[in-house]
Amino acid sequence: MASPRKSNIRSTADAKQRFEERYGTGQNRATVALEREVIGGDYGANSYTTREQADALVDHLDLTRSKRLLDLGAGRGWPGLYLSKRSGCQVVLADLPLVALDEAGRRSRKDRVHKRSEGIAAGGSTLPFRPRSFDALVHSDVLC
Ligand SMILES: C[S@@+](CC[C@H](N)C(=O)[O-])C[C@H]1O[C@@H](n2cnc3c(N)ncnc32)[C@H](O)[C@@H]1O
Repeated sequence: MASPRKSNIRSTADAKQRFEERYGTGQNRATVALEREVIGGDYGANSYTTREQADALVDHLDLTRSKRLLDLGAGRGWPGLYLSKRSGCQVVLADLPLVALDEAGRRSRKDRVHKRSEGIAAGGSTLPFRPRSFDALVHSDVLC
């Protein structure tokens, strides 16, 4: 096996800055069309999780209205908001850049899942939750 590639993200602060810049560039018709074509979604995604894979997660994680899901590194809400819309589950979106969580908040209202979702600006190593706060966890290309 080849030597594992080292991540070029050195710290949480580094990740926050890089992703703030990325989310700050916003979306346009071309990026939305590209996302629809490649992954089948339109959340302003920054990962390669496809809609088909997200659909499979609903069954795989047994997501229902009574379940509580954590989307770590949720960005603009993909796939957490989508999973909540599909299954009715409660979802907490955790990420570092507020600009992404703000967009996720707008999307949650548009999709009418705002009462079942909340965003929290927190890093994965400092999450303010007690053990067993969630029934399931998703993360899309976060630990790379
Ligand atoms: C590849 S993006 C995926 C975002 C979103 N889930 C999507 O599919 O579009 C990775 C996300 O992880 C977040 N992230 C990176 N390091 C993190 C950390 N230590 N704690 C929480 N989030 C982190 C980034 O800010 C970014 O939004």
